[in-house]
Amino acid sequence: MNKKPTFYVTTPIYYPSGKLHIGHAYTTIAADAIARFKRFCGYDVRFLTGTDEHGEKIQKKAHEAGMKEIDFLDAQIAEIKKLWEKLEISNDDFIRTTEERHEKAIQKIFTKLYEKGDIYKGSYEGNYCVPCESFWTESQMIDGCKCPDCGRETKIVKEESYFFKLSKYEDRIRDLFETGNFIAPESRKNEMIKNFLDPGLEDLSVTRTSFDWGIKVPFDEKHVIYVWVDALCNYITALGYESDDDTLYKKYWPANVQLVAKEIVRFHTIIWPALLMALDIPVSKQVFGHGWILFADDKMSKSKGNIVYPGQMVDRYGVDALKYFLLREFSFGQDGSYTHRNFINRINSDLANDLGNLVSRTVSMVEKYNDGILVKNDATTEFDESLISLYKEVRVEFERQMNDLMYHEALESIWKFVRRTNKYIDETMPWALAKDEANKDVLNNVLYNLCESIRLIATLFNPLLPATAVEIYEQLGIKGREELYNWESTDEFGLIPDGVKVHKGKVLFPRLDVEEEVKILEELFAEKIVDQEKAIEHKKEITIDDFDKVELRVGKVVKCEKHPKADKLLVSQIKIGSEIRQIVSGIAAWYNPEDMIGKDVVVVCNLKPVKLRGIESQGMILAAGDNGDDLIIPLATGATDGVEVR
Ligand code: MSP
Repeated sequence: MNKKPTFYVTTPIYYPSGKLHIGHAYTTIAADAIARFKRFCGYDVRFLTGTDEHGEKIQKKAHEAGMKEIDFLDAQIAEIKKLWEKLEISNDDFIRTTEERHEKAIQKIFTKLYEKGDIYKGSYEGNYCVPCESFWTESQMIDGCKCPDCGRETKIVKEESYFFKLSKYEDRIRDLFETGNFIAPESRKNEMIKNFLDPGLEDLSVTRTSFDWGIKVPFDEKHVIYVWVDALCNYITALGYESDDDTLYKKYWPANVQLVAKEIVRFHTIIWPALLMALDIPVSKQVFGHGWILFADDKMSKSKGNIVYPGQMVDRYGVDALKYFLLREFSFGQDGSYTHRNFINRINSDLANDLGNLVSRTVSMVEKYNDGILVKNDATTEFDESLISLYKEVRVEFERQMNDLMYHEALESIWKFVRRTNKYIDETMPWALAKDEANKDVLNNVLYNLCESIRLIATLFNPLLPATAVEIYEQLGIKGREELYNWESTDEFGLIPDGVKVHKGKVLFPRLDVEEEVKILEELFAEKIVDQEKAIEHKKEITIDDFDKVELRVGKVVKCEKHPKADKLLVSQIKIGSEIRQIVSGIAAWYNPEDMIGKDVVVVCNLKPVKLRGIESQGMILAAGDNGDDLIIPLATGATDGVEVR
């Protein structure tokens, strides 16, 4: 028996720190399309996705939500899994980095690299971006201090750390880039060489001691393993690497293609292969860095309010409308701008008009002119040959484009044939043929060719739009007869047997009113922002007497310096009337000590003093923060220090 060739495809593992938007869904939908296509072509496919659950950012989010990390994560992961189900994602596995199978393997990997000498102990001082969990050198940062990925200020982090000898692998990584097509598309390779390899690779700090939500270094438990090392290795731990059963690892590794968006190509094409080299195992065959889906030319982001959620899109337009749009509208590999108008126009022109009309006109004509029965005969028309030969061309192009992950081109190829088939209706004019009984055979042949073209169209797009394909098979009366819509069946024009009965079904894609829908979408997603505001969980009601227990006063900051032991903290001396209070606050990421001096802040005066990393704090400065992303200290500028705030 012939063994099927294997094919392993992965998505990045997602941060479960908020609701996923269509940018996230884009990678997963694209990975699903290639997984389905390869399965369709006879490969033994393994398709992995999952969640990246450690790190300071996640810990902060959980604490802000007032929850234990794992409870916070469980709720988020349930939502993510529901979303993938809704999008009919066909992943074979879903890995969570908090699972035991992953954590244990990561500890073994870390120990292995340490024992080999590729991980060593040192101390680290660098510019760290908390939200992106990345260290940056001065030359990489914007204005010498801001994260080049998100634009936020980085902070200096100094700590004892273990290091991975990334520099040792520089030459091998350069070789990897120069041979074969490890990085795709080509443009991403040049970016990596210019921005990271040419300036030279430095050893990478791979542990943290400043927080504890991570996998512990097994032989030095005050360190947790850097999230990126933890996260990247999911691609092999999910296969059972370093476990009691590594059958899947042996079968599927190295991955055939790892899909990621451009901002994390750096991790996947430099750190990841270096880790694999250090482990003495093969590197993935390809990392494909696709572009971003932008919203009004900006990156989608909740804090900017420009976001589109896939769940709501599916509820309103169906899963295939969203999949079609994402895969067809944007050139995979390049950035593209999302607009509601483009979405609706695309659905109307390609799905409702071109495809929907073709199917409904054809099925209606078969019902009207021949009681729904398809007849196969030799009464050809002068237009048949060009129809069939275009199909053959399209079939070849489609296969190549899918294998190159050029989804937009692959769909365009199919639609070239959809349009050609519509033209065949205009050329052959079945309604005119139907007027004369003498043309009955020709008419039947035309109707047969139309149904056969539709069968092939649906079968080519089956991996991309599976739900629509099934609906079409139903209407063509061939559902359940897989030999008529497997991959081999796309090689032949003329497979539907004589006598099959078609049935008119539901409209595949109703035509949408552009203006109305654009308005609805604008409201739908604007409403989400209001919804989020509404969704605030308020604390238990208190009386004015309860409130009165809190002593709030205006204080003037007279001195402020960094906490000697904690990068996140500032120590302020605050004048409140005749007294000076010392207050420690977690505001160092947003405020420089010198900027604090002279500010009139609001202080909670009767809070029980506490020691924060060894320094006493006698109260608290009020601050307004949005999920830890932004933080602002409200000011009582001009008020006399010491006065009460009520
Ligand atoms: N957890 C890391 C990945 C670790 S992989 C070992 C991470 N997670 S993420 O949730 O922030 O983003 C994951 C992926 O979502 C991105 O790489 C990208 O594939 C996808 N996208 C997020 N926003 C996107 C757009 N606006 N457009 C296209 N893809 C986007 O990074």
